[in-house]
Amino acid sequence: MGTDSITIPRWFDRHLHLRDGDMLRTVLPHTLASQATAAVIMGNLPPPNEISTIVKAIAYRDRIISMLPPGSDFTPIMTCYLTDETAPEDVVSGYKEGVWRAVKLYLARKDGSGGTSHSSRAVKDIRGRYPVFAAMEKEGIPLLGHFESVDPEIDEFDREMICLYLNVIPLHEAFPGLKIVFEHITDNRSAEFVVSAGDNVFATVTAHHLMINRNAMFDGGMNPFKYCKPVPKRDDHRRKVRAIVTAGHPRFGAGTDSAPWDEAAKARGFGCSAGIFTAPAAPELYATVFDEDGALDKLGAFMSVNLAEIYGLEPSKETMTLVRGSFTIPERVGTVRVFKGGEILPWKLVGR
Ligand code: DOR
Ligand code: ZN
Ligand code: ZN
Repeated sequence: MGTDSITIPRWFDRHLHLRDGDMLRTVLPHTLASQATAAVIMGNLPPPNEISTIVKAIAYRDRIISMLPPGSDFTPIMTCYLTDETAPEDVVSGYKEGVWRAVKLYLARKDGSGGTSHSSRAVKDIRGRYPVFAAMEKEGIPLLGHFESVDPEIDEFDREMICLYLNVIPLHEAFPGLKIVFEHITDNRSAEFVVSAGDNVFATVTAHHLMINRNAMFDGGMNPFKYCKPVPKRDDHRRKVRAIVTAGHPRFGAGTDSAPWDEAAKARGFGCSAGIFTAPAAPELYATVFDEDGALDKLGAFMSVNLAEIYGLEPSKETMTLVRGSFTIPERVGTVRVFKGGEILPWKLVGR
């Protein structure tokens, strides 16, 4: 049966959507309860509020901090939402002033459509951003990419792979010293690229993409609660990505992409929002995956060590413990349905 308890350094989430206002107040406690020491916060707030300037990033960081309970040691790691107008000097100043520790790249079509949630102000001309990438390479600022082609002609299930060949590989060749994090990997070709690319290329992987394939989106009829971007892929992709992760590759780390949406925005028949909310069960979901693969000894590095350095973190000296037992995932948090809500996982974080 293997081990019944596992203790790892306290983890950090390399990719988190906290939103703002009431939603922020609702979801933040769940990341804190997961014993995360820090999280890399995505700034795709609804336009024109995306976190694209130093002033906006400081204000958003302060809104998050103002909702932390007294004594909390949680660190929100802010990111700069890159637009076609962002100046290289501003990216560098925000980094040197300690406002943000990375830049987030979303892509959009010329008319602002085609990207992921709230990406209308995202980058339309990636080549035009090369001066920014040159400055980032020089200063050691990581680029976190939602790498999916936004070309309407491209099959939805090929978008990550096409972006890999059209954008990511050329980007890496042009700036071999640029630290690139390939976010929420779903396609085994991207995973293999990260493995082969060498020291400056990293990946985050969500718990949901390790667990579900594209069938889930049609489970019980069109299923909006299993719909996210990138869309889950064929099962052979999932298994290959997962094999690299649970084999313990050191440049792959946990990034939940936990993305809360009101049930109404998810369940409507047409135009439902992309995003899966995993924050209330993230450590248990990842532990379940590693246990299924007989790889619990690799869980701590994946959750708590890998990639820490690029975000300016030290692995925590404190620990968290998961034990074998039943953990029933809450169905809802406020008006947000939780991934696998109501299901029982075989691992539970001590302290829940
Ligand atoms: O499914 C997703 N939801 N993917 C993203 O890239 C964005 C996120 C969100 O903000 O809801
Ligand atoms: Zn994304
Ligand atoms: Zn995201």
